[in-house]
Amino acid sequence: MAGRGETIGRLVGRAHRRLDALFVELRDALAEGEEHRSLLACAARLREAMEEHLDQEDELFWPAVRALDPEMGRRLRGFAEEHPGLRARIVEIHAKLSDGAPADALPALDALAEDFAAHEAGEEALVAVIGPPRRGGDDTSR
Ligand SMILES: [Fe+2]
Ligand SMILES: [Fe+2]
Repeated sequence: MAGRGETIGRLVGRAHRRLDALFVELRDALAEGEEHRSLLACAARLREAMEEHLDQEDELFWPAVRALDPEMGRRLRGFAEEHPGLRARIVEIHAKLSDGAPADALPALDALAEDFAAHEAGEEALVAVIGPPRRGGDDTSR
């Protein structure tokens, strides 16, 4: 939950660490040959969390950053442009698992995990410099 002194960098970083854990959970489930239903549940958790995170960045975080700092907003554009491709890849992995093709899903998951980690690191490096929102401390109108 966002509290006083919270920064967008910390919020995004925490969301990324949750996603990293879900990638590891699905990777482990695949590597250990877990049963179909369990694999599907892991894949659905990762897919839903990724979709929710990408929606949050597209609709909330990055518009807020653009409003505060248009130059940083321009630098984030490349990351936002990667979102449709990332979405398509997790949907495809989920579909491979639904079809009962875990051997096909593993290399696709490893490739996505690597690219997603680079995506996360780039976003975090950019937004790390944004401080917490100011709350009336500089209000000189009264
Ligand atoms: Fe992103
Ligand atoms: Fe992100």
